[in-house]
Amino acid sequence: MWERGLGPIRLVVEHRALGGGGGPALRIYSSEPKGRELLRFDCFEKAPHFHIDPSGRDLITSLESPDDAITVALEDLARDLEGYLKRAGLELSRPLDCAAVVLALNEAEAEMRNPPVDLDALDLEALRRRRGEKWTVYPPDVLPAWVADMDFPVPEPIRRMLLRSVERSDLGYPLDPGETGLREAFVDRMQARFGWSVDPERVDVLTDVVQAIYVGLEVFSEPDEGVVIQTPIYPPFLGAVWETRRRLVANPLAEGRDRYELDLDGLRRAASPSTRILLLCNPHNPSGRVFTRPELEALAEIALAHDWVVISDEIHEDLVFPGHRHIPFATLAPEVEARTVTLTSATKAFSIAGLRCAVAAFGSESLQTRFRSIPRHVRGGIGSLGIEATLAAWRHGQTWLDRVMAHLQRNRDHLAAFIHEQWPAVRHFPPEATYLSWLDFRALDLEGGPHQFFLDRARVGLSNGTRFGSEGEGFVRVNFATSRPILDEILSRMHGALERAGRIG
Ligand SMILES: Cc1ncc(COP(=O)(O)O)c(C=O)c1O
Repeated sequence: MWERGLGPIRLVVEHRALGGGGGPALRIYSSEPKGRELLRFDCFEKAPHFHIDPSGRDLITSLESPDDAITVALEDLARDLEGYLKRAGLELSRPLDCAAVVLALNEAEAEMRNPPVDLDALDLEALRRRRGEKWTVYPPDVLPAWVADMDFPVPEPIRRMLLRSVERSDLGYPLDPGETGLREAFVDRMQARFGWSVDPERVDVLTDVVQAIYVGLEVFSEPDEGVVIQTPIYPPFLGAVWETRRRLVANPLAEGRDRYELDLDGLRRAASPSTRILLLCNPHNPSGRVFTRPELEALAEIALAHDWVVISDEIHEDLVFPGHRHIPFATLAPEVEARTVTLTSATKAFSIAGLRCAVAAFGSESLQTRFRSIPRHVRGGIGSLGIEATLAAWRHGQTWLDRVMAHLQRNRDHLAAFIHEQWPAVRHFPPEATYLSWLDFRALDLEGGPHQFFLDRARVGLSNGTRFGSEGEGFVRVNFATSRPILDEILSRMHGALERAGRIG
């Protein structure tokens, strides 16, 4: 239960379970000891309403409106909290501190929109009923830990937003994405989280990040021209280069003492006059690296020297663990921004990849014009639910994400400790971001490679390292965005298979 004192009053947020209904409620008490309840806003999905003086006169008013009840209640309170208190019988001896009221109402709103969720209480049978690829590609006796989807329930602000669209039968042609407020929500988020000022006119809404990579390769390079990629890499990067008939300029990450490192000298050697694009992945999938400012500055220097366009996929920017900081590539310097297209989306951090919505921020008008030379209908339309869900995630989902990140950090550390203690021959650097761990099983020389070995003998479905480029031979990627019991079951199955094959202990 969230609680905040505000001078003469006390705010409490509660998630009320009432038969089949209920939902978030904001209670306002007078702050004397045993202070009476003055107001209660029951912002339920069904029949939302508020009470004035609920323990006395109990005047009830509906909060039914075309807008979401939490928004209506909180906006009214922000406008006239003192008036509401007066109607509830509280005479204030002096005005409330306006800044403190705004702060407390913002916190209350975040709590109301994000009920606590037990991320360790996932129901395996319910997960198996999901229709997405994570839970359907492998047979039912296999525990999937591959594609980058999380097993957690849909964040409540997104669930609520989607339900409202469906209940209104609001599934007709969507509004032009530029009119939906999504670009502004992205701009606000970049400013608040990374101190990056983006011009909303330079932002385009897209179907997905991978699609934008393909378009970028088509418009910023010609067939056979080079595209630099730090390998091993998220497989669609490789697919995009091959399928658009560009030339892969692989710049493999080097294994450092406690992390993978950029090989800048190798990159300088590999660059040729016909290389046009740096296709950057930061944070990097699958290594989990969050590149530091000096690393990014060195990359930018090379990109400037060779006049490369930089396509920077920053989709994992919201999944950075404490101790590391995401730096948008475009923020390094104005001349760097001018050659950078930044791609991102809410789909990884909020696990809504099935809804297909992403954004591109162009560092210059000319980059945007070239990108738009592929007609919009070829680039594809964006579904209204994807836009609504992304808005809900960015505007209201951060409290959910903060809780998820704490859980992911515990899982990451648990996995790292397990590997360190139980499988000392397996190389592994705990990721600095993402919910993906990149495991090097080369020393164990597993029959058929680790992916096939664990699929056949442990019935665990991991991502096959070879799909991330030739550097991934002997590696697998594990997705740990699940409950601790499921993660433990994955590890225990893998451990059993290694023991039975005589590869450990
Ligand atoms: C680095 C990276 N880029 C892009 C994507 C996919 O983005 P989208 O579904 O928007 O194409 C992923 C998904 O795992 C990813 O890891």
